[in-house]
Amino acid sequence: MRVTEDLEELRESRRSLRGSFGLVPTMGALHEGHASLVGRAREECDAVGVSIFVNPAQFGPGEDLGAYPRPIGRDLEMLESLGADLVWTPAAASLYPPGYQTWVTVEEITRPLEGGCRPGHFRGVATVVAKLFNAFTPDRAYFGQKDAQQVAVIRRMVRDLDFPLEVVVCPTVREPDGLALSSRNAYLGAEERRAAAVLHRALAAARALYDAGERAGEALRAAMREELRSEPLAREEYVSVADPETLLELDRVESGGLLSLAARIGRTRLIDNLTLEGRGR
Ligand code: PAJ
Repeated sequence: MRVTEDLEELRESRRSLRGSFGLVPTMGALHEGHASLVGRAREECDAVGVSIFVNPAQFGPGEDLGAYPRPIGRDLEMLESLGADLVWTPAAASLYPPGYQTWVTVEEITRPLEGGCRPGHFRGVATVVAKLFNAFTPDRAYFGQKDAQQVAVIRRMVRDLDFPLEVVVCPTVREPDGLALSSRNAYLGAEERRAAAVLHRALAAARALYDAGERAGEALRAAMREELRSEPLAREEYVSVADPETLLELDRVESGGLLSLAARIGRTRLIDNLTLEGRGR
């Protein structure tokens, strides 16, 4: 496994790799969710690259950029054992040198949900992912369904900017109580960790209602709200039943939908989602 901070070195190593190449972009603090992406890339590609970069451009002013965990030694051990070929760990100052002023803005679909709560977040994500695509020139890029809006934004950018690659989306890896794995779960104290399972419970409650025949968006949103309110340590930021492509709220779920929510558990902000399959009616 080659590990480098340097873009030119990365490009040289990339050129020496033959066959199909899969990229897994990450911010490090790797867990089984990230491992599932690397594993899938390992199965489907001849060579696998991983980026570890805590991207300052996607964090807002009051957010956790400084506190974000950076266990680089452990991350590299994990990637070695997963069989990654190439790891890029660039410095922020080399990706965004003084005078940097070029940004990728995906429009409508970045406005609701996470975009509403975190202004500028997806501009930072789209920009860094475009730079990662240019650096690695992957044939496939692997993303987690955990960040459903991020997937929609990247897919849109790939289509709109003609990146010659396939976006592969991998299912959300969860703890036994349903909590989606996230690097931010490390911020949770023991009581908060127990309380955090309410996010998945709220989504599951809405999906159960949908499975029982409920199609009204507002009824599904109400079910999520009610479940979140049952946990005193949880504070809702939004609950949503949206069209999976446009991410606009649905009055009725007729041909599939995306249930998503964001909540604070203490000071930690967590997100999760589940998809609703269309039943063709
Ligand atoms: P990060 O939060 O490190 O996540 C890297 C990738 O792992 C993302 O595609 C994310 O959706 C996926 N992932 C996270 N938790 C997961 C889980 N429990 N199950 C499955 N996949 C999971 O997302 C980012 O970094 C950044 O925004 C990035 C794309 C790297 C751009 O900076």
